[in-house]
Amino acid sequence: MLDSYAVVGNPISHSKSPLIHTQFAKQTGEQLTYSTLLAPVDGFTKSVEMFQISGGKGLNVTVPFKLDAYRFADNINDLAARAEAVNTLIFNDDGSVTGDNTDGIGIIRDLRQNHHINIAEKRILVLGAGGAVRGILQPLLNENPATVMIANRTMEKAIALANDFSDLGNISGGGFDDIGTKHFDLIINGTAASLQGEVPPIPETCLAEQGSCYDMMYSANNDTAFVTWAKQQNAAKALDGLGMLVEQAAESFYLWRKVRPDTQPVLNALKN
Ligand code: ATR
Repeated sequence: MLDSYAVVGNPISHSKSPLIHTQFAKQTGEQLTYSTLLAPVDGFTKSVEMFQISGGKGLNVTVPFKLDAYRFADNINDLAARAEAVNTLIFNDDGSVTGDNTDGIGIIRDLRQNHHINIAEKRILVLGAGGAVRGILQPLLNENPATVMIANRTMEKAIALANDFSDLGNISGGGFDDIGTKHFDLIINGTAASLQGEVPPIPETCLAEQGSCYDMMYSANNDTAFVTWAKQQNAAKALDGLGMLVEQAAESFYLWRKVRPDTQPVLNALKN
């Protein structure tokens, strides 16, 4: 029987993960299957246990189950512990389950390797203070930016999040008003505003000359609202999160198979 993997979420039918992992497997010659697993919103544990009993080797975890997966795993790796969220489950041969988080590595690889955007010494603005942002902060701070400011609609959440990561670098939190006249070399949008076609209310002047913008969301057909905003500000690069999606998948694939797939052809195929 082939080793089986899946992505678990609710809803899940729209997921691109099966397409991505099937292409990784083909490219690397790994013998595996990868499907979707729809779990009831209140039935994560049961669904995952069934998958494990049926011989499943690993799962990607998406909305709304990343916290459930964090609680489910027996061992939590460092990045997932800081993120307080798990997007990758590894079912070990001894029956134990390891939880990891590859989202942060995904965005850093996309920025650095695919788009040649350096983070070291740069001034970074991160919009949003929810789970998606928490998931990327440790890998972001590991790149030694000059400063990271988290700005959020609910200011208190940004301040609390910055406090949680203050041992790792120069990080502060506030509301959108606190951006004031500051300038940033890179603005990362981790709010859910794009889902509503909105851009957080940030000053037009806050993107530094030659600065770039990155939306953690992506849109299949049109630019996201934030990518449109970035282009209007003449951003050097105005990127959406498709690359992050493929890179986090590649890291999960590596955790399971110890083989690193080439992401570029898969990214190209998805764009077309
Ligand atoms: P996720 O897991 O996607 O991060 P989340 O934890 O619910 O989801 O967080 C959503 C984030 O998007 C929050 O930072 C939220 O701001 P609040 O903390 O003030 O709720 C932000 N958000 C959602 N809709 C937004 C909007 N229309 N404008 C600005 N920020 C928005």
